[in-house]
Amino acid sequence: MRSAPIGVFDSGMGGLGVVRALRAAMPCERLIFFGDNANAPYGEKTPEEIRALSLRAAQTLTDRGVKALVVACNTATSAAEAALRQRLDIPVVGIEPDLASARAIAGDKRVIVFATQATLSLPRYLEAKGRLCPNAVSIPAPELVQMVERGAVAGEEPEAFFREKLAPWRGEIGAIVLGCTHFTFLRAPLRAVAPGIALLDGIARLTRNLRSMLAAADALAETGEGGVELHTSASDPAVMARMRALYEMRAQ
Ligand code: DGL
Repeated sequence: MRSAPIGVFDSGMGGLGVVRALRAAMPCERLIFFGDNANAPYGEKTPEEIRALSLRAAQTLTDRGVKALVVACNTATSAAEAALRQRLDIPVVGIEPDLASARAIAGDKRVIVFATQATLSLPRYLEAKGRLCPNAVSIPAPELVQMVERGAVAGEEPEAFFREKLAPWRGEIGAIVLGCTHFTFLRAPLRAVAPGIALLDGIARLTRNLRSMLAAADALAETGEGGVELHTSASDPAVMARMRALYEMRAQ
């Protein structure tokens, strides 16, 4: 059990940022990543569609004998985490917008949340926002998902998007939540537009939860070199090339 791999999935490229962080935090673990790029974006789909795709993505990983499943997609966590837990007999841990940390850092200032339309309209987020961060400003950003899928992670295109969306809140922002894993690749353009503002991506919290779930199941790998395998549902070889480039991109 300890030497079995951990499965990680996302709708596409975003989960690579999670894989990179898990690789650094848990170097003895073997990680198998599945990006469902052929079906991205998930954030524009119905909850039923997202659930069906998530269950299928999970199946491709459980077929490889994974000991735990990481949902590296805020959208899939919102729509499908409960269904995945019910269906699978391994630990399941999902990433979600880190509103609690953002609120603690922002104090009386505004928290801005960039996420997909699906995440922002599902009950899980609405309940957490009401409870933890009622003054959060929720901004759907499907354009950013497309940019990252295309590999446009720097320069004027993402910067112009952030400039326009943040303009109404200038001077009032205390923290920004990256509520979609794709956006973790856009820290540099976001920092250029909003210097000095804390950016929260939920990955540290996810890593802590994964570690404690594995420890509770006596399944933490503590020896060996670990490693990473990348897979995609897309047939275009250019997608895999972009995946590798993003995975190897210097952490921002
Ligand atoms: N990376 C995904 C997330 O964290 C969603 C991107 C998409 O719309 O597919 O929400």
